[in-house]
Amino acid sequence: MMINIIIDGKKIEVEKETTILNAAKMLDITIPAVCNREVVEAYGACRLCVVDVKDGNKTKMVTSCNFPIRKKIEVFTQSERVMKTRKMLLELMLSRWPNVNLIKKFAADYGVTKPRMVHPLVDYSENACILCGLCVNACSEMVWEDIIGFAGRGENRRVVMPFEKHYDACIGCSTCANICPTGAIYMTDIPNHPADATRIDKYGMKITEQMTLLDDEQCDMRGIGTAHLTQIMNDYDLLPTTNYKYGSHKEADKLHSDVFKKKYITQGLPDGCWLGCTMSCAKAAENFELKTGPYKGQKVLVDGPEYETVAGCGANLGIFVPEFVIEANFYCDTYGIDTISYATGLAFAMECFENGIIDKKITGGLEVKFGNENTAMEILHQMGRGDGFGIIVGQGIRRMKKIFAEKYDLTDEQIQFMQDIGMEAKGLEYSEYVTKESLAMQGGYGLALKGAQHDEAWLIFMDMVNNQIPTFKDKAEALHYFPMFRTWFGLMGLCKLPWNDVEPADNAETDEPAKVPGHVEGYVNFFSAMTGKEIDKQELIRQSERVYNFQRVFNFRLGYGTREHDAIPYRSAGPVTIEEYESRAERYDKQLTEKWNYDIAGKTSKEKRDYLREMREKDYQHLCDAVYKRRGWDNNGVPTIEKMKELRMDLPSVVEVLKKA
Ligand code: SF4
Ligand code: SF4
Ligand code: FES
Repeated sequence: MMINIIIDGKKIEVEKETTILNAAKMLDITIPAVCNREVVEAYGACRLCVVDVKDGNKTKMVTSCNFPIRKKIEVFTQSERVMKTRKMLLELMLSRWPNVNLIKKFAADYGVTKPRMVHPLVDYSENACILCGLCVNACSEMVWEDIIGFAGRGENRRVVMPFEKHYDACIGCSTCANICPTGAIYMTDIPNHPADATRIDKYGMKITEQMTLLDDEQCDMRGIGTAHLTQIMNDYDLLPTTNYKYGSHKEADKLHSDVFKKKYITQGLPDGCWLGCTMSCAKAAENFELKTGPYKGQKVLVDGPEYETVAGCGANLGIFVPEFVIEANFYCDTYGIDTISYATGLAFAMECFENGIIDKKITGGLEVKFGNENTAMEILHQMGRGDGFGIIVGQGIRRMKKIFAEKYDLTDEQIQFMQDIGMEAKGLEYSEYVTKESLAMQGGYGLALKGAQHDEAWLIFMDMVNNQIPTFKDKAEALHYFPMFRTWFGLMGLCKLPWNDVEPADNAETDEPAKVPGHVEGYVNFFSAMTGKEIDKQELIRQSERVYNFQRVFNFRLGYGTREHDAIPYRSAGPVTIEEYESRAERYDKQLTEKWNYDIAGKTSKEKRDYLREMREKDYQHLCDAVYKRRGWDNNGVPTIEKMKELRMDLPSVVEVLKKA
């Protein structure tokens, strides 16, 4: 709801609940504010931001930083009594903290240079604590730790740790020190001994502020973690359903993040992979009572679920039951099984079963069908115990295809069908995104050296959700840049999520929003400040290119790494079955007509599906051509000697491997 107000005679329309201080900022009216920062809740400690507010016939003085606008009012930021009050407050402050630069500056602005009295609690330190409360709120709201707080009243008021003793729970993140406007808090021990701790603080603080301010509206990583993606993926037809056949499902709302948040992820606590992470995307379900398996009946804490687990163990198995997802999450963790591999592998087995490729002979009597949660759970326990059909599913899709073909003496057509629906690349199961409509993401999975792993999956967001890489050239560039950048995170031991899951507010206005230049700059500075070695963003990519090309050389040494090994199952590029084609017929018909000038009149679904396949498979090969070229590889995906020279990687032993590739 919008409200019209007047500040110093100027009219402005603001959203209900906007503070007077923020409304004044919009009009370029400056109000002095010592204890206010946008990134934390207004504390109202200094009272310097007072203004007069006229509401009908009444006028009252309020602190503008925490006064929410709820109705039509008129504000006076420089009335006589406001100016007098501020002057008096500043004189008092200066008498108490005469050498604090911030106070001296504000006081001078109001003509106060020498107070008329000496405060009984005078503190002559330049770094005196002025009791602004920013550190207390920052620790609580930005870091979610609540390590420090105020103790005492009146003249005894001070910032302390509990019981005024050192508290080990302080993670030493330095946010309190960085936000303190006087330097009253400072770090006495800098962990990891970076070459330039101040530079790291600067960029660390910047990203911490962005997380605090922007995460709620962009991702809610702090609230629910990556599980927030489930509804987004379902809305964009990207949520894998029944072995990636479809990208959405009418029951998907049963797996939406608010279901988990309301009932299971109830801690409301930060849970990062490392101390001090402001994103804190790790979440846990508490007191979850297990219904099956060796711990049946016990109440346990389950680490998760995150998006891939919800999408894989839920939608991709056709099981829209949050309790099943959490239980599968728990037992995968307990047995040491990756949730993605379990889910994608089992989804493949389910589709084979439903299509009569396998039967109960191999499953030990189990009805391995989509949506059958009891069977899905039993197979997980079998995988953990090492018995039954679980042994076969546990070997992964590549081996399952071989085992099924041998055991059932399958026809060529059936073998091809398994090839098309077996969602693995380079032997690794696909992570949980439907890539049919995203050529970039098909390349992201297929052209990754390690297979279709989930850390290659952000291209789908750029391509399909944000539409940041629309052209073929953009996609090829993305498939050069992003895998290199991802490799760099791995090399440095850094998390990728703060790079582009939460973006700076002005990211869309930058030259290359897909690369999130504001955050790349942060990583460049982090590297230089940590090591003392100055690099630029190009060098960051070059560092990865050296490793990435070296990994490709190792692929060759193992007998892989050429174009044929970058192949993908057709289901990741388009509809395998008629049923899939017809479920999205409008979309596919439109593409056939508009993109490939194919006359669909009088054509059967089978004919249209086959033509679409031909075109999409060609597209994928063209993408490979473009990406190989951009990466400096030859037409077979082999790094050229020139490229290796450019990277200073042309060691004789490396060149020898490449020549044989
Ligand atoms: S270092 Fe971090 S955790 Fe410790 S008191 Fe300061 S803000 Fe809180
Ligand atoms: S230590 Fe610094 S941030 Fe905390 S209340 Fe004192 S002046 Fe403010
Ligand atoms: S800025 Fe409003 S009370 Fe300090």
